[in-house]
Amino acid sequence: MVEKNSDPDTSGFTRRSFLTGSAVSAVAPLAAGAAQAQEMPAFEADPRAPLPVTLIINKRPVRLQLDARTSLLDALRQHAGMAGTKKGCDHGQCGACSVLVDGVRQLSCMSFAVMLDGHEIETIEGLAAPGGTLHPMQQAFVDHDAFQCGYCTPGQIMSAIGCVNEGHAETDDDIREYMSGNLCRCAAYPNIVAAIRQARDEMKEA
Ligand code: FES
Ligand code: FES
Repeated sequence: MVEKNSDPDTSGFTRRSFLTGSAVSAVAPLAAGAAQAQEMPAFEADPRAPLPVTLIINKRPVRLQLDARTSLLDALRQHAGMAGTKKGCDHGQCGACSVLVDGVRQLSCMSFAVMLDGHEIETIEGLAAPGGTLHPMQQAFVDHDAFQCGYCTPGQIMSAIGCVNEGHAETDDDIREYMSGNLCRCAAYPNIVAAIRQARDEMKEA
């Protein structure tokens, strides 16, 4: 019987024989790979084993042992004992976890701590002078009542400092645009813009 869809006139090569041959040739490398895998020595390092990491937090080296999957946010809050940086969404959508890394604002929930070994991290705890004098951005937030519950405020302030340093705070529109990654559930936005405007001018004079 001639097989349906086969073409017996083309060197006797049927669809069934092609498929059978393909299956055999596909299985052969798998079998070879399995045999090779059995011969390979076991990988002994435990991928969950803690790794040594040194973060320079607010100019002080902090040595930690961290699972490679630990975010910078969790490293700060749960391992370095610095809970000033807040966890809102934990997946890059609210800005509550903003810190400065080597002077550039970054979402700490989206950064693996082990990738920042030896880098400079600046958090809200490091802004005030040793005598307690507030950073101009902190003082401006106080002066303008730029918060209500305060949960978003550490992230707002760190992000605002980054925004000014980037030169993205020259106009109110710029401030609104470049601070749009920092959400405030209390909607203190007009006061936040006013605070950044004040701090921008003071930071320029400093
Ligand atoms: S906690 Fe990082 S962006 Fe929301
Ligand atoms: S002050 Fe409450 S979320 Fe911003």
